[in-house]
Amino acid sequence: MPKRMRSLLMWLLLLITMMEGGAVRPLVQAQKTIFILAGQSNMAGRGGVANFSLPWDGVVPPECRQNPSILRLSAGLDWVEAEEPLHKDIDVTKTNGIGPGMPFANRILEKKPEVGVVGLVPCAIGGTNISEWERGRELYTHMMRRAQASVRDGGTISALLWYQGESDTLNVADAQSYGSRLRKFFSHVRADLQSPLLPIIQVALASGQGPYVETVREAQLGMDLLNLRTVDAKGSPLEPDGLHLSTPAQVHLGQMMADTFLHFLPAPIRAQVPSPSKAAAAPPPRARRLPNFAAAFLTLFFFSFFL
Ligand SMILES: *[C@@H]1O[C@H](CO)[C@@H](O)[C@H](O)[C@H]1NC(C)=O
Ligand SMILES: *[C@@H]1O[C@H](CO)[C@@H](O)[C@H](O)[C@H]1NC(C)=O
Repeated sequence: MPKRMRSLLMWLLLLITMMEGGAVRPLVQAQKTIFILAGQSNMAGRGGVANFSLPWDGVVPPECRQNPSILRLSAGLDWVEAEEPLHKDIDVTKTNGIGPGMPFANRILEKKPEVGVVGLVPCAIGGTNISEWERGRELYTHMMRRAQASVRDGGTISALLWYQGESDTLNVADAQSYGSRLRKFFSHVRADLQSPLLPIIQVALASGQGPYVETVREAQLGMDLLNLRTVDAKGSPLEPDGLHLSTPAQVHLGQMMADTFLHFLPAPIRAQVPSPSKAAAAPPPRARRLPNFAAAFLTLFFFSFFL
């Protein structure tokens, strides 16, 4: 075989090997599993921020680490690789720290790698009450605009993650109206996303800005909506400010929310016992496709034979 032909073959071989396995697939275009994150400061994340006058301590636990398969929608509506603090360009007037979003996404991929690419859409703003999240108001409109932008390049909004209510504990009238306001908010989100059964995972309060925490918690825990699950944060360790979940508490919360979400997904198919006839008819999936290296080897073989 002439030398030039041989080097041509080597290039061909390299090309084939790269075609499938090694090819760079832009994750931005992937069919993302998208989550909307909304609420107030404990969703935005204050873990590692001892109080509002101090900076974030910068500690990122391994459960919150970056991963090329975890993206976030930036304030400029671009998909970028996610990193802590997740809400830094969204909740811009506050000091952001660790929230539940990154441990949530990492846990999902750890337990269900077949999910592929997780897209997080941070929308939470610290210090906001439920009235400010009403349909038609700025926070709601902002969230919806981001939600719509998130599906532009492919993917499905798979759940709303909601942690809010601390600001509605200040007076008894707001605390007592919390349930009806929240219910309305959830139904508007589902209607406007045209997803009437959209899974919602909300957090029952661990703390509040006023004395009516239990009134708000009762409304949250008593809410009976299809595909709504409530994760209880009561008893979570707080920062010295007494209001915000610490970093370890946020890690635990994010993981609980992930485990709750995973219950919404269909059970693995291999959990079912196939009937003998079906099992015989269907070849094992591994045998169906020629592995890359075998295809490359065959090509090489044929070329060297004919040339
Ligand atoms: C914030 O925390 C630091 C350290 O714990 C403390 O010295 C300071 O007084 C606190 N500031 C406020 C406003 O709570
Ligand atoms: C909600 O918060 C806004 C802005 O802080 C405030 O003006 C309003 O009175 C609050 N509304 C209720 C119902 O608490």
